[in-house]
Amino acid sequence: MATQKKLIHEQWSSRTAFILAATGSAVGLGNIWKFPYITGENGGGTFVLIYLCCVALIGIPIMIAEIMLGRRGKQSPINTMAALAREEGRHPGWKYLGWMGVIAGFLILSYYSVIAGWALAYVFRTGSGLFLGATADGVNSIFNDFVGDPEKLLLWHTLFMVMTMVVVARGVKNGLETAVTFLMPMLFVLLLVVVIYAMSTGYFYQGLEFLFTPGKITGKAILIAMGHAFFTLSLGMGAIMVYGSYLTKDHSIVQASIVIALADTLVALLAGMAIFPVVFANGLQPGAGPGLIFQTLPIAFGHMPGGTLVGVMFFTLLVFAAWTSAISLIEPAVAWLVENRGHSRVYASVVMGIMTWLVGLGTIFSFNIWKDVTWSIPFLFKNYRFFDTLDYLTANIMLPLGGLFIALFAGWIMHKTSSSDELATTAGIYKTWRFLVRYVAPVAVIIVFLKAVGAV
Ligand code: PFF
Repeated sequence: MATQKKLIHEQWSSRTAFILAATGSAVGLGNIWKFPYITGENGGGTFVLIYLCCVALIGIPIMIAEIMLGRRGKQSPINTMAALAREEGRHPGWKYLGWMGVIAGFLILSYYSVIAGWALAYVFRTGSGLFLGATADGVNSIFNDFVGDPEKLLLWHTLFMVMTMVVVARGVKNGLETAVTFLMPMLFVLLLVVVIYAMSTGYFYQGLEFLFTPGKITGKAILIAMGHAFFTLSLGMGAIMVYGSYLTKDHSIVQASIVIALADTLVALLAGMAIFPVVFANGLQPGAGPGLIFQTLPIAFGHMPGGTLVGVMFFTLLVFAAWTSAISLIEPAVAWLVENRGHSRVYASVVMGIMTWLVGLGTIFSFNIWKDVTWSIPFLFKNYRFFDTLDYLTANIMLPLGGLFIALFAGWIMHKTSSSDELATTAGIYKTWRFLVRYVAPVAVIIVFLKAVGAV
């Protein structure tokens, strides 16, 4: 009798399905909402350059490692790490790496859902013609009134959370594949439409200059750039690992990782090119913070021909992009509950959904009733609200730390025979990957950590 392990989870129907789902996870609010505003806050050019280096030298090798571990372990990240450690004859404590990922995903989703709720609200706001002919001041005050109202934010956060958990409860494959096949290319096209509008503002060059001209940078900004490379590629917390666990053996992980990283980076750069010209054309501040796209894009939609339709489509697609990412943020936790507690996917999704929703309230209040409740951690941050703190700790600390240990596991703990077997190659590309994952990625993450706290 075959002794093959029974598969609790589904498998992707094809390699393309996996690439699409992983791209769906990677492309999200991180590219269109977060990348422009943190670039604006951290001075532009140099920040972008460091982010790009991190994607190439740390992100891609760790993505390969994560998919590889997932496909070999075939379970939720917690159980995958436990199983692989056992298989390699190593300490069982590696499973805590999986745990850290589950917690990071849960915390990220709690605020991700709030911001995705903003995008959802902006579909209707744009559709109502609210922004037709609007001025920068008008758009700004509409945004401030909106985030100042906890009840409104609560409504949209709840709606987005329900949308997410419904898909998770049904299993990630159903729905996700179709969503990504059609909607991602459409999002890309609409982004191009806004870039074309940005070209007509007369400030396109200034936008490019801001994005690509190097300037001064701080240790903290370097940490944020690296954290963002992890965040935007969905790395360091097991999301890509769990998607890798649904992948069958006959596919090239290296190729897939490069395609996913390129697509993700392109979307982020296009978002920057769409937004910064509008920022400068309207005398706005690039460092305006998390509201940046909601304070700039409506101006563009209010003035371009057919802007209402383009705006509605754009925010709708942004919601879809966020949706496909949100699903992957909670999948590691749900997969674990199904495996270890024997819960149904529906029950596991409801429990996780309610918990995440509750933590999300803290983010909602950060923009209104708790606006002035801030704290500081020496060397790390000053006067951060609940939302900023959560974002900082997850994206800049937990994800890179998770990534560091994934790199160490794949490069040092796992035997060479296992990784070359799983990647199905021993050629130059394997050697390059192994070098990056053993030396370059871990050393880079450690140096950036030390630099951020001013130790080097
Ligand atoms: N990569 C997503 C984005 O850029 O919006 C966010 C994300 C999804 C981060 C999944 C981490 C993750 F595991």
